[in-house]
Amino acid sequence: MNDGSSNPVKTDANNGLSRRGLLGLLAMAAAATGVLLPAPAGAQQAAGDPIVIGHYGSTTGKEATFGISTDNGIKLAFEEINAAGGINGRPLSLITYDTRGESGEAGKAVTRLITSDKVTAVLGEVASTLSLAGGAVCQERKVPMISPSSTNPAVTRGRDYVFRVCFIDPFQGMVVAKFAHENLKKDKVAVLYDQSAAYSKGLRDEFKKALKKMGGTIVADEAYSGGDQDFSAQLTTIKASGAQAIFVPGYYTDVGNIALQARKLGIGKEVPLLGGDGWDSEQLAKIAGEAIEGSYYSNHYAPDQATDDVKVFVEKYKAAYGGQTPDGLAALGYDAALILADALKRSNCEGGKALRDAIASTKGFKGVTGMITIDKNRDATKSAVMVEMKMADDGNLKPAWVATVDAAE
Ligand code: PHE
Repeated sequence: MNDGSSNPVKTDANNGLSRRGLLGLLAMAAAATGVLLPAPAGAQQAAGDPIVIGHYGSTTGKEATFGISTDNGIKLAFEEINAAGGINGRPLSLITYDTRGESGEAGKAVTRLITSDKVTAVLGEVASTLSLAGGAVCQERKVPMISPSSTNPAVTRGRDYVFRVCFIDPFQGMVVAKFAHENLKKDKVAVLYDQSAAYSKGLRDEFKKALKKMGGTIVADEAYSGGDQDFSAQLTTIKASGAQAIFVPGYYTDVGNIALQARKLGIGKEVPLLGGDGWDSEQLAKIAGEAIEGSYYSNHYAPDQATDDVKVFVEKYKAAYGGQTPDGLAALGYDAALILADALKRSNCEGGKALRDAIASTKGFKGVTGMITIDKNRDATKSAVMVEMKMADDGNLKPAWVATVDAAE
């Protein structure tokens, strides 16, 4: 019998996924094929055939580390699942397309994954604007999509085939405002946001709302467009506003340039920059150097956070990727892939509505980035961390964990 129960495969990340290596995988795939029953008429793929999953992400361009890290995380998870026998005897295979960080490319990539490659499910994107574009295609074609990391509420709204495994920006905006108000005691804050990105606009709104509610004041509210090179007009206004901190809810390349120019204009380090998850890239410190030292951002996980699950993941990732420390996107890509695998097992490898329903009923899944339960809006309610860009003992500027804010707070 090949009904899945005769060949139990564990897909829970924390439940004994063991690496059995390629030989073990081949042996298991052969065993599964060997007991294959005649497929009923209309059945798509035989057991043992790969389940093809699509990933769309920015592996080049201004946000290249987003797509690369996510892809690395997904691949690590798929490799572990396949080494442990796949899903009901079928290996997962991955097709990744580059979006270059452009929403038009995102739509094209997802269309190609669904119509040409016939993927069972889609993972991606990181940037909310791109997930909105790709999600429209998945929704129309009824192919389940899981964004590992897009935090704008609109990404899943009204789209019953689109899910995410991260928190959303009303929470993230509150977390940063609370940190500014309570931990840093900075109540006069300027904002500099990217008007071309849904993520940045939404996070700016949420931060402003939350800070005002706590009694703080927004002393300047300036905009730029992603890719701009000159921020001096906005920063001059911000300098004159007497801001005690500057909230910059952007992506790392722009944020790095903004930090450099702010310090050059004489805005000193007593005025830290604050931001959200969009800062998360090792490139941030490379671009900004010490201009970003002492600034803070919120994120989904901190690699230096000493929980056992995080430690195990960091070690596995480093071993697989030449000693590189996984960023938040690698961790979220890994978690999204494991959640998808878990749902595929419960849908008996069926796609479409069966898979949609299985993802929707995900409860208490223990991921690297925390406990994941998919709620009725197809979002996850999770805690956030605040990190500080700090000089480490090895002489490198990197994010250091400062605080964890629980979802309930
Ligand atoms: N949350 C960001 C968005 O929605 C993407 C992001 C997540 C970037 C995590 C870096 C780290 O656009």
